[in-house]
Amino acid sequence: MADLEGLKVEKNYHLSEPFAADGNFHVKGAANLDWGMKKRLSSIFNPTSGNTVMFAFDHGYFMGSVSGLERIDLLLPKLMPHIDVLMGTRGALRTSVKPGFRKGVALRVSSGSSMLNDDLSHEVVAVDIEDAIRMDVDCMAVQVFIGAEGQLESIDNLSKVINMGSRYSIPTLGVVAVGKNMERTDQYFKLATRIIAELGANIVKTYYCDKFDELVAACPVPIVVAGGKKLAEKEALEMAYQSIQGGARGLDMGRNIFQSYHPAEMAESIGKIVHERFTGKEAWEFYRDKTK
Ligand code: R5P
Repeated sequence: MADLEGLKVEKNYHLSEPFAADGNFHVKGAANLDWGMKKRLSSIFNPTSGNTVMFAFDHGYFMGSVSGLERIDLLLPKLMPHIDVLMGTRGALRTSVKPGFRKGVALRVSSGSSMLNDDLSHEVVAVDIEDAIRMDVDCMAVQVFIGAEGQLESIDNLSKVINMGSRYSIPTLGVVAVGKNMERTDQYFKLATRIIAELGANIVKTYYCDKFDELVAACPVPIVVAGGKKLAEKEALEMAYQSIQGGARGLDMGRNIFQSYHPAEMAESIGKIVHERFTGKEAWEFYRDKTK
């Protein structure tokens, strides 16, 4: 075993040391990008707090009219004051969002499966870069299935979008997918987030997990946390708080906002955690007072 001599086997995330390559830009890992990339990233991450509240309403691209999203034309105007970024499909954005709104846009560009498929991991890039430019989006979102049957396709999709985005200074958001039979451990999320960042994504969306601070430390670009299935509001706000405490730079929640009886108040309460450093308990009390 001579070749193991001197080999470091224990990982050390240096949790007390901040990211050392930020320069004077507020978005992790983006200090060396060009002006256009930085401008778009600044439409996503608030330059004062460094954080973002994204509203994910792209579920229809494979789930159809999921509960809570039957009428996005009616829902979005209520949420707009409380969020920083809309994450949706071009069909939903073009038909149901007034072009004059002044928020960031994360455009979902990968698709290829529906609820009727057992394996959702086979996707393609379904949007041309020219259309993303025409819509003046702030980033393009690609679902990535690490460890699934469609891993190669989704890494190919992600890489193509990063290549095209780099050409026109449009950042890429890599979304960690969790399929029915896929692991949801911190080891899995650490693996998937780091692969996505190393492939060149500028933002990674994943789920909150154990040892989340280690996952964040080992990922050289900002992490935003997905909400996942609907939780009680108090629990969802606590998860949002723990995510920000663990180093996430934002939340990209869907069902925990649009399936709440009070979506606008829920989005506003999440904003209190993300931008004003409320604790989960303070945000819950804020939500409760607003919805009395
Ligand atoms: C994944 O395919 C999409 O981005 C989802 O729409 C999003 O991750 C789901 O958000 P949530 O889990 O908060 O409903």
